[in-house]
Amino acid sequence: MRTNSKVIIEIARDRDALLIAAMSKDLIEFGLSWRWKPSRVLSMIRDPDCVVLVAREDNNLVAFALMEYHEIHGHLNLLATDPAYRRQGHARQLLQWLLASARVAGLATVGLEVRSDNDGAQAFYQRLGFRIEKRRKGYYAKGLDALSMVLHLIEPSQAARRPQ
Ligand SMILES: CC(C)(COP(=O)(O)OP(=O)(O)OC[C@H]1O[C@@H](n2cnc3c(N)ncnc32)[C@H](O)[C@@H]1OP(=O)(O)O)[C@@H](O)C(=O)NCCC(=O)NCCS
Repeated sequence: MRTNSKVIIEIARDRDALLIAAMSKDLIEFGLSWRWKPSRVLSMIRDPDCVVLVAREDNNLVAFALMEYHEIHGHLNLLATDPAYRRQGHARQLLQWLLASARVAGLATVGLEVRSDNDGAQAFYQRLGFRIEKRRKGYYAKGLDALSMVLHLIEPSQAARRPQ
């Protein structure tokens, strides 16, 4: 899939694990202990219940997103755009791709956790239709709170009626 003349979106390859993990450490997990190490990212790239997407320009990793697909719920674990490429729609394109595939897979909701002090990401997710569901006190190390955000792909009343 093409986003602009040079940037393409594709499924991550094994060799992307190192850079995704490094970017996660610097752009998402900064100030916290590093949980998304290369081996964990690699296991997600190889996990059939997970999709790891990348946007790249030539050999540069522009943005990435990692989502787990459960039976009726998807969970977005990682999403970041290289600072040099922000506000160009790359994260939106990755997330819209994942949300479209979640709809096809019949998921009812997609959720995520975001740092309570990360106003930019919260604004981004709200723009994409996510709503804050609850505050999770001390979710991260050092007592940092998370906000759980959720997007309903189908009406909650319809989801309740679906056979399990
Ligand atoms: C949040 C993040 C992924 C957004 O990536 P991006 O590629 O710049 O986002 P997009 O260009 O697709 O933004 C789409 C829309 O979201 C909103 N948005 C994005 N970043 C925003 C910000 N910092 N402040 C307010 N609104 C923002 C805007 O409405 C934007 O549309 P516009 O540029 O036409 O106004 C990026 O800022 C990032 O990597 N942050 C650090 C990592 C992070 O916090 N990840 C989320 C962890 S849960």
